[in-house]
Amino acid sequence: MGIGEAFAREFARRGHNLVLVARSRDRLQALGEELRQKNGIDVEVCVEDLSDTESPGRIYEFCRGKKAHVEILVNCAGISCAGDFAEIPHKKLEEIVMVNVMATARLTRMFLSDMVARKQGSIINVASLGGLQGVPGLGLYSATKSFVITLSEALHEEVKGAGVQVIAVCPGFINTGFFKHSGHNAANLRLPISGTDVVVKAAIRGLRHNRIRIFPTLIDNILAFSQRLVTRSVVIRLAGYFAAVKD
Ligand SMILES: NC(=O)c1ccc[n+]([C@@H]2O[C@H](COP(=O)([O-])OP(=O)(O)OC[C@H]3O[C@@H](n4cnc5c(N)ncnc54)[C@H](OP(=O)(O)O)[C@@H]3O)[C@@H](O)[C@H]2O)c1
Repeated sequence: MGIGEAFAREFARRGHNLVLVARSRDRLQALGEELRQKNGIDVEVCVEDLSDTESPGRIYEFCRGKKAHVEILVNCAGISCAGDFAEIPHKKLEEIVMVNVMATARLTRMFLSDMVARKQGSIINVASLGGLQGVPGLGLYSATKSFVITLSEALHEEVKGAGVQVIAVCPGFINTGFFKHSGHNAANLRLPISGTDVVVKAAIRGLRHNRIRIFPTLIDNILAFSQRLVTRSVVIRLAGYFAAVKD
């Protein structure tokens, strides 16, 4: 769904074969069939729940089994839970960390080794503008996205000599089911909401120019830059104001 589906559509249009991963088998199969028909590419569907510790290993083995040498890994699946940290159900807390942090780290670790050995490959980690600071009402989510940004930055430098790219794309608000899924009333948001294509185009441009962090829109760039001009406490309060988690 959402940004992941937009990446799949764009890479299919460019003639890449795909391995699609998510939990919803029917949606994946329908998308896979459509992209095969339209673009004449191979599409494999791998149904996995990334909150399961073992799922990254199974995804890696699935690709090996299909002899799919992954040239571009897009770590896009991500979840959130809007509201005060003290009220997040414990199970939800673990699920968010497993999907946003552990699955991203494990998948990156597994596919990166092969990319480094082949001296070729790219990893696009979908982070968030929210990862640039703690966002009140989205504390855990913003912390997981900080992890994604920080890990991507370090790896970008570590593997650049090996001909491999690792980038973090940091979108602002994007029009997907994300807000509904995380109990965040999108009508409250105090910044414009962009389409998914903006994220995909920016990420591909970022790969071309070998950027470390990519901010898809002008507003995202202004917000990221302006953090240098005000105090940290203002940055955090503004982030909470823009996200407006509470009605
Ligand atoms: N929308 C925004 O405003 C925004 C802004 C900044 C960053 N982002 C980031 O962009 C990424 C994509 O978000 P989106 O807006 O496209 O959200 P979305 O529409 O809710 O899509 C989330 C995708 O992740 C998959 N997913 C969720 N939990 C999963 C799990 N346990 N195992 C496997 N797949 C799982 C979902 O598929 P299934 O449900 O079928 O598993 C779905 O395809 C996330 O990392 C998010 O943090 C979004």
